[in-house]
Amino acid sequence: MGAKQSLSFEEALAARAAAVERVLGQLLSDRVLAGEIARPHRLMAAMRHGVLNGGKRLRPFLVLESAALFGHEGHATMRVAAAVECVHCYSLIHDDLPAMDDDDLRRGQPTVHRAFDEASAILAGDSLLTFAFDILADAATELPAERRSQLVLALARAAGPGGMAGGQALDLAAERDAPDEAGIVRLQAMKTGALIRFSCQAGPILAGAKVQDVERLGEFGAAIGLAFQLADDLLDLTGNAATLGKATGKDAAAGKATLASLHGVEWTRRQLAGLVEQATELLAPYGLQAAILTEAARFIAARQR
Ligand code: IPE
Ligand code: IPE
Ligand code: MG
Ligand code: MG
Ligand code: MG
Repeated sequence: MGAKQSLSFEEALAARAAAVERVLGQLLSDRVLAGEIARPHRLMAAMRHGVLNGGKRLRPFLVLESAALFGHEGHATMRVAAAVECVHCYSLIHDDLPAMDDDDLRRGQPTVHRAFDEASAILAGDSLLTFAFDILADAATELPAERRSQLVLALARAAGPGGMAGGQALDLAAERDAPDEAGIVRLQAMKTGALIRFSCQAGPILAGAKVQDVERLGEFGAAIGLAFQLADDLLDLTGNAATLGKATGKDAAAGKATLASLHGVEWTRRQLAGLVEQATELLAPYGLQAAILTEAARFIAARQR
């Protein structure tokens, strides 16, 4: 941990991102795995376009740092981080489709359906979601088998109908029929919070930490997950499209009420500060060891991209 703490948070994030990108590049190569028949070149190219395109890699960072907090580093941890990023990138590819947010730009580049075509984007998303579970279940993710299956179950719950996919359904429904404030908080906890929460719990799970630690990191993840989407909504209102690498003003254009649009910029900033404080308190029992995760909470709330 020592050398890492002398780096700024942004440098630590960039270093973790580069490491996980190397693993993602290997996993998404054209090389056929045992049990696969062939990897169609265009499909693989669409998947790589949607993944190897310079995201912040924040969810992998949370996996790696939450694992490090419980003394776990190494290749298995990196594979779990890569699996989460595959689910995240699938969610972005599908989120950008014409049937959903209809976006042309993602991470400063044409979205997958723009660079390829809609069918390729749908299939690239399907493949990334499936492949994430392949990565977790594979014995190359060297962990005791029951921890692997615990990760598979937790990721499925986070990404499925009661988590991210369900949240995306509620998010689209909210364009037609505005939910109340509690409804907005719940849909955000699902569409964005669930995967961030999983990322924070993956570390203690794969390290075989105590149930109380898995729960505590889950509460931390829920707090920063909410902060993450609040910041996203704020950036949609006030952010710079060039820095963000995606269009802004989309929520208002779609008639989507967000907490930021309902309550304004100042209220949102105060909420963000409160969530950072809550997140910091949750990690207090771990002392200085958790400093980098506390910094991640601050980064999430203050982010400009
Ligand atoms: C954007 O996520 C989508 C949301 C869940 C709000 P990120 O802001 O983490 O996007 P990348 O991965 O850095 O591009
Ligand atoms: C996306 O939320 C959430 C998921 C992809 C699950 P948004 O639609 O607000 O994300 P951006 O603003 O397009 O990145
Ligand atoms: Mg959306
Ligand atoms: Mg969107
Ligand atoms: Mg958004």
